Amino acid sequence: MFINFWYPAATSADLTDKPVKVRMLGQHVMLFRDSAGKAHCLSNVCTHRGGNLAGGKIHGDCIACPYHGWQFNGSGECVKIPSIGKDGKIPARTRIDAYPVEERYGLVFAFLGDAPEAERTPIMEIKEYGQPGWRSTIQHWEWAIDYKRSVENGIDSAHNEFVHPTHGFSGAREDYKLNEPEMWTDAWGTGMRNRRLAPPLKDEKMREASGRYDNAVVESSTGHHGCASVWTHIHPTPKTFIHQYLFECPMDAGRTSIYLINLRNFLDDPVHDGRMMERNEVVAFQDRDILTALEPTLTPHNMTRESFVIHDKTIARYRQWLDEWQSRGWRIDIEKVERDRQTVAYAIPSPARRLHKGWVLDAVPLLPAAAKAAAE
Ligand code: FES
Ligand SMILES: [Fe+2]
Repeated sequence: MFINFWYPAATSADLTDKPVKVRMLGQHVMLFRDSAGKAHCLSNVCTHRGGNLAGGKIHGDCIACPYHGWQFNGSGECVKIPSIGKDGKIPARTRIDAYPVEERYGLVFAFLGDAPEAERTPIMEIKEYGQPGWRSTIQHWEWAIDYKRSVENGIDSAHNEFVHPTHGFSGAREDYKLNEPEMWTDAWGTGMRNRRLAPPLKDEKMREASGRYDNAVVESSTGHHGCASVWTHIHPTPKTFIHQYLFECPMDAGRTSIYLINLRNFLDDPVHDGRMMERNEVVAFQDRDILTALEPTLTPHNMTRESFVIHDKTIARYRQWLDEWQSRGWRIDIEKVERDRQTVAYAIPSPARRLHKGWVLDAVPLLPAAAKAAAE
């Protein structure tokens, strides 16, 4: 898993007047809203004696640790140590890592890393979000899978025919053959366009709305943005579009939090949200059941331990991207983190680590930049 990307931490609706604890990149972080309603994200480990900050209380613009009441503001600065009294001097070293936060698409994103603002990979964009004629829904799942397995599944055009009976014909047609995907690379990922023969939509209302009652060639395009976000645009007819955006975050090496933002340009009355979400969940669980049973659990780094054919070229390209981000020094040495679990509390390094020295918690160990060794 990698530092220096934006990851989804929670939905905006999840963040009320109580702190929230979230597992991200093998560590705990905590989220809270200050008195102005602004969301903040901090490393969850109190720099005094390792208290669980998310178990504390919000005081105005600060979170108070439940153990001895030290208070930290949204920038991670300790602003109050009750036991030393009003005039006591607060050591600078008490600072906690605080991560940039953005709320977008109904989600709270945290930038987990120390890259300065100008160098940050942007959050995956949803151009049609909030535009007239589009209706969106959010769904969330936590699955016992490696997030890379999920991303690779998202950009794998050959699995639909077999994993999703409603997307194809389960390989039963004599004339089944997938065309070679048209693939491209942009600044932060890889995309592809595909056409496949598909049966009509399963849901009656959706079928009526699309006006398609027969098999037809469906155009879809998909791609990954950064290491853990995937977009898919499905056009069941030239006028009816389903656009899906998966924002994923590895919680631990074999556990992933997945947010799906689904947009549709038909049946835009909210009354149809339930049927759309139900269909999405059926399809998502078909993927989950395949992914949780893959061996090995973690995506192999070495491509010689799997067979690649032409439709896997997007997956091969994704793995090259992972190598590229590792070469920048962004890959967490998760094996070391796991080995140290009982004795060391790490923090994901925040941008402030480039400005201040003297931190109580060690930053998570990273694989050396430009080293391409197997990692996760
Ligand atoms: S452990 Fe947090 S205040 Fe002591
Ligand atoms: Fe799928």
